[in-house]
Amino acid sequence: MGAIYRLAQRTDASRLHDIRRRSIRELAPPRISVAEAQAWASKLTLSGMEQKLHELEIWVAELDGIVAGWGAIRADRLEGLYTAPEFAGQGVGAGLLGMLEGLLRDREFPSVHAEASSNARDFYLRRGYRAAGPQTQDGAWPIMKGLLT
Ligand SMILES: CC(C)(COP(=O)(O)OP(=O)(O)OC[C@H]1O[C@@H](n2cnc3c(N)ncnc32)[C@H](O)[C@@H]1OP(=O)(O)O)[C@@H](O)C(=O)NCCC(=O)NCCS
Repeated sequence: MGAIYRLAQRTDASRLHDIRRRSIRELAPPRISVAEAQAWASKLTLSGMEQKLHELEIWVAELDGIVAGWGAIRADRLEGLYTAPEFAGQGVGAGLLGMLEGLLRDREFPSVHAEASSNARDFYLRRGYRAAGPQTQDGAWPIMKGLLT
C-alpha cells in the first residue's frame, strides 16, 4: 500500500475534520451503535480540529495525492487515528499506526499509550497493544504497547 506520510498543516483542518467525522459515522458501526457513532461525531467541530492541529503532531497518509487518513501523537501518546471510509480496509490505519510507532521508537520512548474507543479496541489488540487499565468514565479503553522488543 504505497502511502506517503507527511506532517499535517493548518490548511488541512477542514479535510481532516471531514475524515474524522465520516470515519466515526461510517466505520465505527456496527462495533458501536449508529446512535452512539452519531452522538460522538456530532460533538466534533472544525475549531476542535484546528485546536488539535495546534496542540498535536498530526501525520497524514496520502494515496495518489489524496488524503486517506490521519493519526496524531503527543509525546508517547497516540491521540487519534482515522481512515477516510472510502479507503477503509486497505491498510491505511495499520500503516499510519506502524509509522507513528516507528517515530516514537526512534525518539526512544519505551512504549506508546492510547485510549481506544470501544469500536477500535480490537484493531489495536491485534496489533500488539494490551489493556492498561479499566474503562474510563467516558467509555474509552486505556491501552499500551512496548516499543523496545
Ligand atoms: C480503526 C480504523 C482507523 C482502521 O482503519 P483502516 O484503514 O480501515 O484499517 P486497516 O485497513 O489498516 O485494517 C487493518 C485490519 O484491521 C481490521 N479493522 C479495521 N477496523 C477495525 C476495527 N474498528 N476493529 C477491529 N478491526 C478493525 C481490518 O479488518 C484489517 O484486518 P486484518 O489486518 O485482519 O486484515 C478505522 O476503522 C477508523 O477510522 N475508525 C473510526 C475512527 C476510530 O474509531 N478511530 C480510532 C479512535 S481510538
